[in-house]
Amino acid sequence: MRYGILGAGNIAHAFSTALKGLNLTREAIGSRDMSRALAFKKTYGFKKAYDSYDALLDDEAVDCVYIATPHSFHFEHVMKALDKGKHVICEKPIALNHVAATKLYEYAASLNLLLVEALWTKFSPLTIHLKTNIYDYIGNIKTLTVDFSFKGDFDPNNRLYNIHLGGGALLDVGIYPVTYANLFLGKPKSFKTEMTLSKTGVDETSTIDYFYDNQTAHMTISIAQDGPRDAIFKGDKGIIKVPFFWGAETAYLYDLDMNLIKEITFKNKINGYEYEIESFEKSVKDRLLDSPFHKAIDAIEVFKQLDQIRAIWGLTYPEERGY
Ligand SMILES: NC(=O)c1ccc[n+]([C@@H]2O[C@H](COP(=O)([O-])OP(=O)(O)OC[C@H]3O[C@@H](n4cnc5c(N)ncnc54)[C@H](OP(=O)(O)O)[C@@H]3O)[C@@H](O)[C@H]2O)c1
Repeated sequence: MRYGILGAGNIAHAFSTALKGLNLTREAIGSRDMSRALAFKKTYGFKKAYDSYDALLDDEAVDCVYIATPHSFHFEHVMKALDKGKHVICEKPIALNHVAATKLYEYAASLNLLLVEALWTKFSPLTIHLKTNIYDYIGNIKTLTVDFSFKGDFDPNNRLYNIHLGGGALLDVGIYPVTYANLFLGKPKSFKTEMTLSKTGVDETSTIDYFYDNQTAHMTISIAQDGPRDAIFKGDKGIIKVPFFWGAETAYLYDLDMNLIKEITFKNKINGYEYEIESFEKSVKDRLLDSPFHKAIDAIEVFKQLDQIRAIWGLTYPEERGY
């Protein structure tokens, strides 16, 4: 397939490194800024550079589009790409809420096009291995403790703090722990949450607790303070720790006394983004309308939970009104 990239920001670089490493066709880059587009084209060996997203989407040589703009543009950019007949892989969060996410997936399916949220954690060989084998390693999971907290510089215009760009910790990093909890424990029976608001009105730091019949998940997320940034599963036979769980190559298996038993490692072939791309390629070739590793129904369920969490906080985005 011939790839077009929409937006030449941070993550577009990581994705394009993987595209190049996989030797897939880098057809075109679209940026709002021609000099950025040209520099990006040169670095990653794209054939063409455009100074507008519309020009990229009008290029008939582009079969599929990777969307790497801030959250609040995803809905519009995915819709436009689908309207131009492109398969789409869009950065997380694919939309601001579950209503919009549902519309996107339904629209893609109605056009016989594949739409995948680029939630790379779900495509990672380590995640997939743990999901399959966790019972053999630690027995029944009792608790999951997950943190994704980092201290970013406060900047009201940065997408992380800008409410008009879908800012806040929940949609940026919180989506990973919530996805992890859903993947390993399923949908919670109930939850509770507390949040501190930033000066710009987005969520800065929060705790989210999920309750199941015999299990709990405790999640902490922040864009304003550093945290351990790991996931710890405690089972009835052992413990697994996954440092930097969202893109990890290694997990550590301990007994219940925290003696290290084993390192479980899957080394990336490139930078970790190759797996979502390989899966996307295969799904299009196999004419699938849903990703086997990150199904629409699962993504939408996560968005429903994120919506419920935000409802408790009373946080809405101006850009989500009208979906
Ligand atoms: N999967 C991951 O590991 C991962 C990591 C980081 C981010 N992400 C996701 O990727 C998306 C982009 O994040 P990023 O960190 O790459 O952001 P970024 O560095 O700010 O880049 C976003 C790009 O979007 C374009 N854009 C269009 N309108 C914009 C506006 N009004 N303000 C700012 N940028 C605008 C710009 O590209 P042009 O100027 O070139 O048009 C900009 O460079 C987010 O949704 C985020 O959640 C995913």
